[in-house]
Amino acid sequence: MQEFDPHVLEEKPIAPPAEFQKRARVQTLEEYKKIYDRAKDDPEGFWGEQAKMLDWFERPQKVLEWDLPHAKWFSGGKLNVAHNCLDRHLAKNGKKVALYWEAEDGKRLKFTYAELHARVCKFANALLTLGVKAGDCVAVYMPMIPELPIALLACARIGAIHSVVFGGFSAVSLADRIGDAKAKWLITADGGYRRGHVVPLKDTADKAIESCPTIEKVVVVKRTGEKVAWKQGRDLWWHELEEKASAKCPAPAFDAEHPLYILYTSGTTGKPKGVLHTSAGYLLGCMYTMQLVFDLRADSRDDDVYWCTADIGWVTGHSYLVYGPLANAATCVMYEGAPDFPKRDRFWEIIERYKVSILYSSATAVRAFMAWGNDWITKHDLSSLRLLGTVGEPINPAAWKWYFEVIGGNRCPIVDTWWQTETGAIMISPLPGATPTKPGSATLPMPGVISRVVTMKGEAVKPGETGYLVIEKPWPSMLRTIYGDDERFKRDYWTRIPGVYFTGDAAQLDADGYTWVLGRVDDVIKVAGHRLSSMEIESALVSHPSVAEAAVVARPDEIKGEAIVCFVTLRSGIEPTRELRAALGEHVAVTIGTIARPSEVRFADLLPKTRSGKIMRRLLREVAEKGGVSGDTTTLEDLSVIAKLAAAKGTDEE
Ligand code: WTA
Repeated sequence: MQEFDPHVLEEKPIAPPAEFQKRARVQTLEEYKKIYDRAKDDPEGFWGEQAKMLDWFERPQKVLEWDLPHAKWFSGGKLNVAHNCLDRHLAKNGKKVALYWEAEDGKRLKFTYAELHARVCKFANALLTLGVKAGDCVAVYMPMIPELPIALLACARIGAIHSVVFGGFSAVSLADRIGDAKAKWLITADGGYRRGHVVPLKDTADKAIESCPTIEKVVVVKRTGEKVAWKQGRDLWWHELEEKASAKCPAPAFDAEHPLYILYTSGTTGKPKGVLHTSAGYLLGCMYTMQLVFDLRADSRDDDVYWCTADIGWVTGHSYLVYGPLANAATCVMYEGAPDFPKRDRFWEIIERYKVSILYSSATAVRAFMAWGNDWITKHDLSSLRLLGTVGEPINPAAWKWYFEVIGGNRCPIVDTWWQTETGAIMISPLPGATPTKPGSATLPMPGVISRVVTMKGEAVKPGETGYLVIEKPWPSMLRTIYGDDERFKRDYWTRIPGVYFTGDAAQLDADGYTWVLGRVDDVIKVAGHRLSSMEIESALVSHPSVAEAAVVARPDEIKGEAIVCFVTLRSGIEPTRELRAALGEHVAVTIGTIARPSEVRFADLLPKTRSGKIMRRLLREVAEKGGVSGDTTTLEDLSVIAKLAAAKGTDEE
């Protein structure tokens, strides 16, 4: 959880920079409040009106059917998500660039809306020839190449549900996710590039499929040209399928609530949950926030060039690199690789090259840039930038200010956007022309979002007191369920504090009603903005033959926000060694993915537990925060003292 400094509450808000404000869609706080109140007083009227920004084949008859916790938005309405992202723009914007893609090795590609549309239609036809039908699930395990958004939009076009698994996940994680969604098709690539190295995605996919009996066909993009194993009859080259396919593919009308995608995310238990998003409400949430939060200009001569640096494997990439910007006919930049390849100024080079005007990145990236020093930045012309955004984790005021001054040249507002995989779209954020900002605060809820900070009993906490962040009313882009586990959907989100959506975050409100998100209250860890579960890492550790028990906690990390610290007790007769420590770290990386590789593995004689036998993570968090054991130490840490102290206090709260 963020180290909370109450002094930040006293800081004077920073007014939206004047030049920006003059041309913004919403230019004053009063105007924001008017829209907010209008939405609050008549949510259905408000969302009904907003929904007109979608291109409907049949208009909805009802805005909302709400049977807590199940929402149906825009019943009776029919639309096609891919049509909304592509076809509808062709007449006016067919020649406009939809996507600038830059490979890590410097290769560049450009797709107009007409070109992207043709590619999507071809691949949609290819999927149809493979027997994919509306409602079927297609798993996607790809690097950041243009075929990734093309695959997503092709699925959406024919009504197939995509389930993207981030390329940094292991074979085991991929197999779990394919198994849960019972996907019959997998789209992957022979490999991807990261810092000049080949990431062997096809090999990993092959390993995963060994335990995925549902998979019938695997479509493989040729990206690296490396030799890969090939299973005749199952594996198919993407380019061969596309060559044979027609560029004409109708976009059928689907119900507003037709499922669009599943995206797995981590929760409290070790089993990832498949967050299900549906069509119209989700797309509306993405489109609407692109307009208000990013103040997107996509219909004039000085259109924005918008760059969201997230990987499409995460929700930010889904909502703000694919669906939100394309539905708004924006010009987007997509970059394949690492920010420090070949050098630490790659991002600034890209911004200069494409004249990026909106940059949406993570707090971790900002902190890393800050640590690399300003020399990498000052040699580039960043004057095209007009708006900056962050997402995924709390941003500390020092990093916020650096971003504002050094990257934004004091002229670009920063939108610190709070939201979640489950919310589908941004929920709390400044409107850049209207909301005075306070470094470290996501500020105020979007019009249409009723957020509160409450006690476990649902009572509002006073300004400056910590409580749970909840959302009171349904919103169009909310998750509809956990795929295959509606009980968990109800339990995790709607019954903790009855009647409201439980976000899992702790927060405070200040005297101006600004929201300060402090971090998770459950066992979710945010490493570099990536969402991981302590329990998932613990089960990976105990699956190692040397481990008896494991407890995983986060400790604050200057760059990554949080770092993973593992406490491990060994089976009898197993000696703690440096080699074993490294092997356990590797074991976690192989089991879950490299993103889950622990920063520290600490050997302990025993783990502090409550009387009922639950590991006291809170105590371990304190131990972890005090700093690590020196790299050489392989002796067992004696945690019996803290365990005894805790037992003496009779704490059994965890
Ligand atoms: C955290 C990412 C503080 C929060 C879009 C949330 C944030 C979790 C912010 C969701 C922010 C996201 N300030 N914390 N601006 N944005 N978070 O599902 O803990 O990967 O619950 O979605 O990230 O992570 P997820």
